[in-house]
Amino acid sequence: SNHIFKAGCFLSGAFPSFVLWDTEELPLCVCVCLSTGGLFPGDSHEYEVFRFALAQNQDIPKLVPQVDMVDTSSSFAMTYAFCSQFSKGVYAIMGLYDRRTVNMLMSFCGSLHVCFVTPSFPVQTNNQFVLQLRPQLQEPLMALLEHFYWTRFVYMYSSDSGLAVLQRILDTAAERSWQVTSVNLDSLTEPAFIKLLADLDYKKDFQIIIDCELKRLNYILNLVKQNLKNYHYILANLGFLDLNVTEFQKLGPNVTGFQLVNRSDPAVQKINQNWKNKHHTRTKYTGALTYDGVSVMATAFQNLRRQRIDISRRGNAGECLANPPAPWGQGIDIQRALQQVRLEGLTGHVQFDERGHRTNYTLTVMELSHIGPRKIGFWNEKRGYVNTAIYRPMQEEFYNVQNKTYIVTTILEAPYMMLKKNHEQFLGNDKYEGYCAELAAEIAKHVGFTYRLELVGDGKYGARDPETKMWNGMVGELVYGKADMAVAPLTITLVREQVIDFTKPFMSLGISIMIKKPTKSKPGVFSFLDPLAYEIWMCIVFAYIGVSVVLFLVSRFSPYEWNGEESDDEDETTPEYTNDFGIFNSLWFSLGAFMQQGCDISPRSLSGRIVGGVWWFFTLIIISSYTANLAAFLTVERMVSPIESAEDLAKQTEIAYGTLDGGSTKEFFRRSKIAVFEKMWSYMRSADPSVFVKSTSEGVIRVRKSKGKYAYLLESSMNEYIEQRKPCDTMKVGGNLDSKGYGVATPKGSPLRIPVNLAVLKLNEQAVLDKLKNKWWYDKGECGHKDSGRKDKTSALSLSNVAGVFYILIGGLGLAMLVALVEFCYKSRIESRRMKLIDAAMMSTSLGGIAVAGGGAVAGGLGVGPSGLGGENGRVVAHDFPKAGAQGLPCMSKAAGLGLSSTGM
Ligand SMILES: *[C@@H]1O[C@H](CO)[C@@H](O)[C@H](O)[C@H]1NC(C)=O
Ligand SMILES: *[C@@H]1O[C@H](CO)[C@@H](O)[C@H](O)[C@H]1NC(C)=O
Ligand SMILES: *[C@@H]1O[C@H](CO)[C@@H](O)[C@H](O)[C@H]1NC(C)=O
Repeated sequence: SNHIFKAGCFLSGAFPSFVLWDTEELPLCVCVCLSTGGLFPGDSHEYEVFRFALAQNQDIPKLVPQVDMVDTSSSFAMTYAFCSQFSKGVYAIMGLYDRRTVNMLMSFCGSLHVCFVTPSFPVQTNNQFVLQLRPQLQEPLMALLEHFYWTRFVYMYSSDSGLAVLQRILDTAAERSWQVTSVNLDSLTEPAFIKLLADLDYKKDFQIIIDCELKRLNYILNLVKQNLKNYHYILANLGFLDLNVTEFQKLGPNVTGFQLVNRSDPAVQKINQNWKNKHHTRTKYTGALTYDGVSVMATAFQNLRRQRIDISRRGNAGECLANPPAPWGQGIDIQRALQQVRLEGLTGHVQFDERGHRTNYTLTVMELSHIGPRKIGFWNEKRGYVNTAIYRPMQEEFYNVQNKTYIVTTILEAPYMMLKKNHEQFLGNDKYEGYCAELAAEIAKHVGFTYRLELVGDGKYGARDPETKMWNGMVGELVYGKADMAVAPLTITLVREQVIDFTKPFMSLGISIMIKKPTKSKPGVFSFLDPLAYEIWMCIVFAYIGVSVVLFLVSRFSPYEWNGEESDDEDETTPEYTNDFGIFNSLWFSLGAFMQQGCDISPRSLSGRIVGGVWWFFTLIIISSYTANLAAFLTVERMVSPIESAEDLAKQTEIAYGTLDGGSTKEFFRRSKIAVFEKMWSYMRSADPSVFVKSTSEGVIRVRKSKGKYAYLLESSMNEYIEQRKPCDTMKVGGNLDSKGYGVATPKGSPLRIPVNLAVLKLNEQAVLDKLKNKWWYDKGECGHKDSGRKDKTSALSLSNVAGVFYILIGGLGLAMLVALVEFCYKSRIESRRMKLIDAAMMSTSLGGIAVAGGGAVAGGLGVGPSGLGGENGRVVAHDFPKAGAQGLPCMSKAAGLGLSSTGM
C-alpha cells in the first residue's frame, strides 16, 4: 500500500523564470498525501473532495494540482514526496499527516518556508507555516464537561489526536481533583475493549468521552451499543452528523457531540448537493475541511494577484535537503496571504490566528435523542458553551424508547376534549372523546408514536404572568418540559409562538356574533293575508270597486248594453229597454271574475268587454302571485333576525352586546382601528350594566335569558357548537370579524415539530379535519341539521311587484270609458239622423209630432232620466218613450240619470 502516484504536472523539471501574473494559470502544485495505514484503514475521502473542490473553484488563478499518494505513516515516503514537490516548485502543499510524520513535516515547512495546509488533527505548534483547518477541541470539550458537572469519567482516545486533549484534561483534573481514567484505544483489541466495558460497568463509570476519528468512532459505538442505556457519552469529534447513529438512536442513548458543518446552511447544502450528484454519498466533516482548505488557497492567491505581489520562484527550484536549508524567498508572503484569509466556508467562519490555528469559530453541540440528533447548544471562543436546549425533568429515568409515551397536554373544552359519560370504566386516553382527542389519535397514527393525554394542571391555556414572567397553562407545560405536545384549541399568537412551536392551524376561526334565535312567528288567524302586502290588498279592494263602477258607467253609456225588449203590446207605446249592468250586477260580475267563478251575465259592448278583459287579466296575475307566494309562506317558517352583521349591531342601541372579560376578543376590540369596531368598543366600554361576562357559559346564558336583547361576541367555532346544543335557541349571525387559527403546539426545537406539522397538513388535505368537525359539531349536534343554507327569506309581495297589473287595469278602464263614449256618440248620431228622417216623414203627415219629438230629445232626457234609476233588480227600464225615438233615448236617459247633460253632444 506504499504506492506513490504522481499526477502529471506541467511544472515538472526546472521551473521557468517568469513574472507569474502575466499568465492565466497559476502554476500551483499541491501534494495530497493520503494515509493508507493505521489501525483503521483510511480512505480517500479527502482526496476526492480535494479534486471536487478544485473543479468547483474555477477562479483565476487556476490551481493546478500535483498529487502524490503516500503513506503518511512512513517518514521516508513523506520526506521523499515533500522534497520532490518542493523541488518542482509548488507554492503550497496540502495534505494529511500522521502523528509519526507530523514533526518531520513541520520542521521541513518551517525551514523551507513552504506552507502546509491540512485538514488533519490539530497539533500544538507555533509553526506558522502549518495552517490547520480543523479547530481545536480542548476548550469546547472542557466547557461541556463543566456544563455537565462531570468529575469522574473515562477518557478514551487515539494517540493521533488525543494526546493534546489528554494533556489538557489531566491538567484540569489535577487542578480540580477530578477522577479521570484514560484509555488509549490504539492499543486495544476488540476483546480487550469488551472487557474494559464490563469493567466500567462494574465500577459504575457511566460517563465516557470518546476521542477518535469517525471510522473508529462508528466501530466503537457499535461495540458499546448495548451499554448506551445508562451511560452518557461525549464524542470528541467534529462530525456528529457523520456518524451512523440511526440504528441505535431508538435506544434512548445519552450521547453528546460536536458538529462543525452546519448542514442546514443553504451554501453548504448547495455544495453538498453538487457533491452528491457526482458521488452519491455525503461529504464528511474532513471533506468539508479539505474543501475549505482549497477555498483558502484560492482566496489567498487571488489576493496576492490583486495586490500584484510577485511570488514567482526564480532561479533553481530549491534543494530540499541542502545544508543549511535555503528557504524560499516568497514563502513568507504566501504564508501571510494564507493566514489572512477570512471566508465563510463549509465549516463556518474560517479565520486563522498567527500560529495558523483556526480562531473565531463556532461548534454546534448536539445530542442524540430518540427521534434523532438535535441541537442542544453551541460553543464559541467568545461566549463559551451556550445551552439552547430545554431540559425536561426526567420523570421516568430510563424508559425504553420504543415504548416511549409522549405526554400530550390538553384542556377540557367541549367539543374538543370531553370526558366520556362513562369515563370511569376506561383507562388512559379512552376516557376522553372529542375533536382534539381524535385529532391527537390521527396525528399519532401518522407520525407513529404513542402518547398519553393529560389535562393541564391549572386548567389554563397559557399566558405569561406579568410579574414572575412564568408561563402558566398548557404553554407553561410545554415551556417547562412537562409535556411533549399540546393538542387543544390553542390559538396561535405571537407571544406564544415566541416560546413554543405551533403547527399550521388545524382549524380557522374568528370572532362572531351570537344572538338568540328569533322565535318562530306562529301562523296567525289571518296569516292567509301574508303573501300579499297590506297595500296590495287595499289596492285590490279599490280596484274592485273602481272596476265595478267603471263597468256600470260604460254599460250605461254604451248603447249596445241596452236590450230593447220588443213588447208584444198591441199599442207599442211602452217598449222596455233593459241594461244588465246596474251597479249591483257590476259588483257581482267583478266579484265573480275575481273569485274565478264567473257570472251569468257578461258585457256585450266593446267597452264593457275591455273592462271585463283587463279585470280578468288583473285577477289572473294577482291570484297566481298570491297562490305562488302562499305556497312559500306555508312551507318556510319565517325567522327574520334583527341583526345580520357587526354593522347592524353597531348602529342600533336596543340590543346590548359584549364579550368575555379579559379575553382575546375584548383585546381585539380594544386594539381595533376599524371604525365599526371602534364604535362597538366605545359602546361596550361605557355600557351600563356591564356587557362583559366572566365566562363563555355566562355569556351564553345571558344571550338565552335576555329575550333577544343581548348579543354575545365569541369565537366562531364555539358559537357554531353552541348553536347545535340544546335548547337550540342561539344562532350565529354574520361573518367572522377577524381570523385566527388553532394549532398543535410543541416545545421549541422538539423533534416532533416537523412530523406533527406534516401530519396536520396531510390530515387537512385528506379532509379528515373537515370530517372531524362535521362529526363533532353537526352529526353530534342536538338541533337537527343546519338549515342555514335556506336563508331565502319569504316576504310578502309588495305593491311594486305587481304595480304593472294595476297600471294595465287602470289603462284598460280608461280605454273602456273612451270606447263607451265613442259608442254612445256614434249611436246618438245615427239615431238622430233616423229621427230626422222620421220627423220629415211625420211632418208630411202631421205637424203636431215635431214638437213632441224635439221635446223628447231634450226635455225627455231631463224629465225621464230619474225614472231610469228606478229600475228594479238592476234592470233599467225606460218607459213612456215614443217608439220612434226609442233607440236614441236610452242614452239620454243614462246621461240624465248621472246628471250629465246630453245637450252638449
Ligand atoms: C444523560 O446524561 C445527563 C447528564 O449526565 C443525565 O443528567 C441524564 O440523566 C442522562 N440521561 C440518561 C437517559 O441517561
Ligand atoms: C469573527 O467572525 C465574525 C464573522 O463570523 C466577524 O464578523 C468578526 O469580525 C470576527 N471576529 C474577529 C475578532 O475577527
Ligand atoms: C414495550 O412494552 C411492552 C409491554 O408494555 C413489552 O411487551 C415490549 O416488549 C416493549 N417493547 C420493547 C421494544 O421493549
